[in-house]
Amino acid sequence: MEKAEKYSTLIKEAESLIDKSVDDIANMANLSRLLHDHLHHHWIGFYRVVGDKLQLGPYNGPIACTSIVKGKGVCGHSWLHKKTYIVDDVHQFDGHIACSPLTNSEIVVPCIRNNEIYAVLDIDSTHFGMFDGDDQYYLEKIVALL
Ligand code: SME
Repeated sequence: MEKAEKYSTLIKEAESLIDKSVDDIANMANLSRLLHDHLHHHWIGFYRVVGDKLQLGPYNGPIACTSIVKGKGVCGHSWLHKKTYIVDDVHQFDGHIACSPLTNSEIVVPCIRNNEIYAVLDIDSTHFGMFDGDDQYYLEKIVALL
């Protein structure tokens, strides 16, 4: 299936899944599972801003680190610089936090509300160079649904 087609189905399902009457954690739990069902990547989940750190939120995948400092790792960079990071080879990223030895590439998308980052969506792949600008485009649309 083409990437555009795959994401278009995913976005429709995400729109009907997200429930504005519950909190972010509930919606992130279902959304991380939905993303996993459609995209099948190694690790898909959220880190939420709690105090001065990113704290592990709902995810699908292997056990992960529970907290990340601002500016550390790919997630901390995305939070600090308020932008999506696509890393083709995590082993070349200075300060990458290796939660799983099987991860080779990664995309981190900030979740922004009222101009503030309240979480990041992190997706890890066992393949090198798995993510591109199309993934960024669609994943930014998906997190904006929250
Ligand atoms: N690799 C991330 C840490 C989170 S885990 O991949 C789930 C990072 O460098 O920020």
